[in-house]
Amino acid sequence: MHKQYDVLVVGDLNVDLNLIGEDITPAFEQQEKLVDDAALVVGGSSGIFACQAAKLGLRVAFAGAVGDDAFGHFLTGALTGAGIDTQYVRVDPAVKTGLTVHLVRGNDRAMLTYLGTLGTFDAAHVTADILARTRHVHSGSYFVLPRLRPRLPALFAEARRLGASTSLDTNFDPTGQWDGGIGELLPQVDVFLPNAHELQSIAGVTGIDAAMEALAGRGVGTVAVKLGDAGATARAGAKTVQCAPFPVKVVDTTGAGDSFDAGFIYGYLHGWPLSDALRLGCACGALCATALGGVPGQPALAQACELAGLRVNRE
Ligand SMILES: Nc1ncnc2c1ncn2[C@@H]1O[C@H](COP(=O)(O)OP(=O)(O)OP(=O)(O)O)[C@@H](O)[C@H]1O
Ligand SMILES: [Mg+2]
Repeated sequence: MHKQYDVLVVGDLNVDLNLIGEDITPAFEQQEKLVDDAALVVGGSSGIFACQAAKLGLRVAFAGAVGDDAFGHFLTGALTGAGIDTQYVRVDPAVKTGLTVHLVRGNDRAMLTYLGTLGTFDAAHVTADILARTRHVHSGSYFVLPRLRPRLPALFAEARRLGASTSLDTNFDPTGQWDGGIGELLPQVDVFLPNAHELQSIAGVTGIDAAMEALAGRGVGTVAVKLGDAGATARAGAKTVQCAPFPVKVVDTTGAGDSFDAGFIYGYLHGWPLSDALRLGCACGALCATALGGVPGQPALAQACELAGLRVNRE
């Protein structure tokens, strides 16, 4: 059956305000400090993923929520401009659009998040009819979407019943509990995309290889683990592969993980060998990190393939 979308992204969409500087630690008692650069860009793990997936050439639709405010209008406009179908982005007039402030300093950053519409989005409007029209469903930021979380196992199960594959990047759990019902979701996940900390916390096992094996035992088909400036590793079936980091001039790693996810899923959907999908993911992550904010550094397919040493036209 012909599918309208390669990827339906269901998840967090918010504005990111990224500030970079040597001394960006806020000082109270009304002290003012100057920063070196600022960027107001599409944020949310799912939002950044969607932009990278579209930039690689995938046909992407987004299901999420924004407020009826300037940030909400900015986000729907930016996604539309990136070629993403935003007809499933709901506008909630009663709630303000979510916002994260990233304070970027060297290789580190601190985040302050106002959940806004992230706290109310429940994907109730994502019907079987929509799921039947996509090849793949991706969701990001499981732990900061309290209303979506309980619905996700059934949504992923329905998507798979209708022939789609699924992927999940939980990102960080601000509660520190690393549960939130994820045990029910994992068996519905074809591709799990954590970083090393998230992987071990969710698996409840120390050590990357042991934690990947534990998740395979819980029904997750493929696990790709992001290791920051150490690159990444992935496991599918009994096969494990590694990718060393690509050398780039890093400005801000916000969204590197989400851009990695999109690169990896591109390879997955094209049936590439695991090691090539991992290389494309790492190239997207590395190039994302060369600019302030998640989206501005994201590469097109040709640029990512060049860095990764992959041929572009290789269906
Ligand atoms: N300093 C770096 N140099 C080269 N590549 C990098 C660097 N930082 C990140 N990457 C690439 O981007 C990928 C994803 O980055 P990272 O490990 O920071 O993901 P993450 O922890 O999920 O981050 P986030 O959720 O904040 O986007 C890494 O696996 C790596 O391939
Ligand atoms: Mg991440």
